[in-house]
Amino acid sequence: MSMTSPVTFLCPTCGLVMNDERVAGLLWCPRCALSINFREGIPRFVESAHLESFGLQWNRYEVAHADEDRATFQAKTGFSLDELAGKLVLDAGCGGGRYSKIVGGAGGIVVGADHTHAVDKAANLCADLEQVSFVQADLKKLPFPPASFDYAFSIGVMHHDVNTRAVFDTVAKMVKPGGKLAVWLYRKNQFWQEWLNTAIRKRTMNMPPEKLERWCRIGAFLGGVPIMKQTLNKIVNFSNHPNYENRVCDTFDWFAPQYQHHHTVDELFEWYREAGYENLVVLPPEKRGTFYRWTYEKNLLIGSGVNVMGTRKS
Ligand SMILES: C[S@@+](CC[C@H](N)C(=O)[O-])C[C@H]1O[C@@H](n2cnc3c(N)ncnc32)[C@H](O)[C@@H]1O
Ligand SMILES: [Zn+2]
Repeated sequence: MSMTSPVTFLCPTCGLVMNDERVAGLLWCPRCALSINFREGIPRFVESAHLESFGLQWNRYEVAHADEDRATFQAKTGFSLDELAGKLVLDAGCGGGRYSKIVGGAGGIVVGADHTHAVDKAANLCADLEQVSFVQADLKKLPFPPASFDYAFSIGVMHHDVNTRAVFDTVAKMVKPGGKLAVWLYRKNQFWQEWLNTAIRKRTMNMPPEKLERWCRIGAFLGGVPIMKQTLNKIVNFSNHPNYENRVCDTFDWFAPQYQHHHTVDELFEWYREAGYENLVVLPPEKRGTFYRWTYEKNLLIGSGVNVMGTRKS
C-alpha cells in the first residue's frame, strides 16, 4: 500500500485539512487537535457498528475470482477498464475489496471505503497494488473534499444503511463535474415476496452468526440443486452461484444485515437527477436467457438489482 494518500483527508469534526502523519500512525487536525489512528496502515474514522456482519463475512469467506469480478464490475458499472487507468476512483462500500482489485489492476488509483474491518481483508487482497488504499469510514461522512474523484461506484452497499438516499447523496457529491457514478441497489420485488422476506429476515438478522451460517450452508446446498435454484429461491432467497463458498457468503450477506432496503429504477433516477447528474443509463443484468429476463422484468427475482450509471453535470 502507498505511503501517501491520493486524496486529502478532512477533519470529521471541523472540516479542516488534516495533517497526514502516517509514519507516526495518525492523521491530526491542527485546529481541533482531533486525531484519527491508522491500524495496519488504514485510517479508522469509525468502528463497525450495525454493519459488523459484513466485517465478519468478508474476512471469513474467500469469494474473489478475478475473471468473474472483472466481468461483474464492468456489467454493474458500465465503466470500461481502459478508461480507468490513471483515474482517481472511489469504491464506496468496498467490502473485501474484490472490485478495488480489478480497478487497481487496470491502472486506476483507488480509494476503497467501508464502515467495517472488511477493509483489512481488502487491503490484504490488494497488497501488491501500490495505488490502491483503504479507509474505514461511514459513507455518509466521507472525510474527503467534495468533487475529489473522477469515478465512483457502489455495488450492493447503500441499501444497507438506515437511509439509502443519504448515502447516495454523499457519494454523489464526491464525483468531479464530468465524472461518472455507478450504483447498484436491491430491486423491489412483488409485495408477497417483500412481506415474506421481511418476516424471515426479522428472525435471521438477530441470530448469532454461527447459527445463521448453519442455515446458510443449507441454503448453499439447495442453491447447487438445479430444480431448487430456479423455483424455491423465488420464495426464499439463497444464492445459486456456481461456487459453494460464494453461495454461503451471498446467503449470509442477504440474511445477516440489520438494514436491507429495496428500490426501484424510478427512485434511483430521481436521486441522480436531483444530485445534478445527466446521461443516465440503466444497466441490464449480466445474466441472459428468456426465463431469467422475464422474471427480472416482473420484479420476481429476489436479490436482483436496479443499476444506473450517470455523469455529473459540468
Ligand atoms: C454487500 S457488501 C458489498 C461489498 C462490495 N461492494 C462487493 O460487492 O463485494 C456491502 C458493504 O457496504 C458496507 N456499507 C454499508 N453501508 C455503509 C456505510 N454507510 N458506510 C460505509 N460502508 C457501508 C458494508 O460494511 C459492506 O461491506
Ligand atoms: Zn478539526
